[in-house]
Amino acid sequence: MDNTIKKIGVLTSGGDAPGMNAAIRAVVRAGFYYNLEVYGIYRGYEGMINNDIRKMDSKSIAHVLERGGTFLKSARSEEFRTAEGRKKAYENIKAIGIDALVVIGGDGSLTGAHLFYKEFGIPAVGLPGTIDNDLFGTDLTIGFDTACNTAIQAIDKIRDTATSHDRLFFIEVMGRDAGFIAINAGIGSAAAAILIPEKKMPVEMLLERLKSREKAKKESNIVIVAEGGKSGGAAEIAEKVRKILPSYDIKVTILGHLQRGGAPSAFDRTLASKLGVSAVEGLLHGKYDVMVGVINNKIVFTPIKRAIVDDKKVDEEELRIANILST
Ligand code: F6P
Repeated sequence: MDNTIKKIGVLTSGGDAPGMNAAIRAVVRAGFYYNLEVYGIYRGYEGMINNDIRKMDSKSIAHVLERGGTFLKSARSEEFRTAEGRKKAYENIKAIGIDALVVIGGDGSLTGAHLFYKEFGIPAVGLPGTIDNDLFGTDLTIGFDTACNTAIQAIDKIRDTATSHDRLFFIEVMGRDAGFIAINAGIGSAAAAILIPEKKMPVEMLLERLKSREKAKKESNIVIVAEGGKSGGAAEIAEKVRKILPSYDIKVTILGHLQRGGAPSAFDRTLASKLGVSAVEGLLHGKYDVMVGVINNKIVFTPIKRAIVDDKKVDEEELRIANILST
């Protein structure tokens, strides 16, 4: 055990994700278990720069496990991208005596932790907190399961009206430049097609799919479009199809930020709790500049550099299954 670490700081940064509160709670509780002082840093790296840092006690984390969002709040800090910003942040945490950090967020947030470790030697463990599931080094990220559930519930509702009117819906889901939400929400909602940034689907192929479903007398068609596709979002693709198939009654829905909200699923609460405790234990065992994730149901520490640089591939088997099910 590393006895030099006495005070740790925890922050959430980047886009919030359901389960972040459960992760903060796990970090705080594990910190207390190992007799550490734990400080909550508000609004991510902005709070480090502006010295918005508060000592946590057991009341601070009461009834947060089941809540969406992040009670520590989040931000995408431009100032932390600058050397001066990071220096200010370092001086603030040093003045308090914070020896190590747990950073909960996506690739931008983990990049910040990596830089900070390189520049000032502040040990940091990252937790994958993003609905996008786009981090290498973990099978799943905190928030992804809830976001897929939320998307599917919304798509089910759209299916009702789509079927009533024999309409074709293009539904855009989040994921930045990754198609993980689209694939899972697509399979889970019986989509006619799933368009993701990682794989090109020419418009001709989509039209063919729609035609064959028309022959099979399908009553409604839902096409899931991941937001980061090179051929554009749901609106652009719908427009192309509308021009070629003017007889189709086409509508577009962008699910947007509703996918980030809501109470975390049982899976996300458990994942966040396991990762939060493991992050603190990792720090105490000298695991620095790493992200803690779960691979094949086992806790795994991956250097942050790999987690942010290496490409997380979409699961070809899932794509194959989605194809079989949508034709
Ligand atoms: O990374 C999470 C995410 O929700 C992405 O899916 C999306 O592209 C982005 O954040 C939206 O960010 P913002 O809330 O800053 O618009």
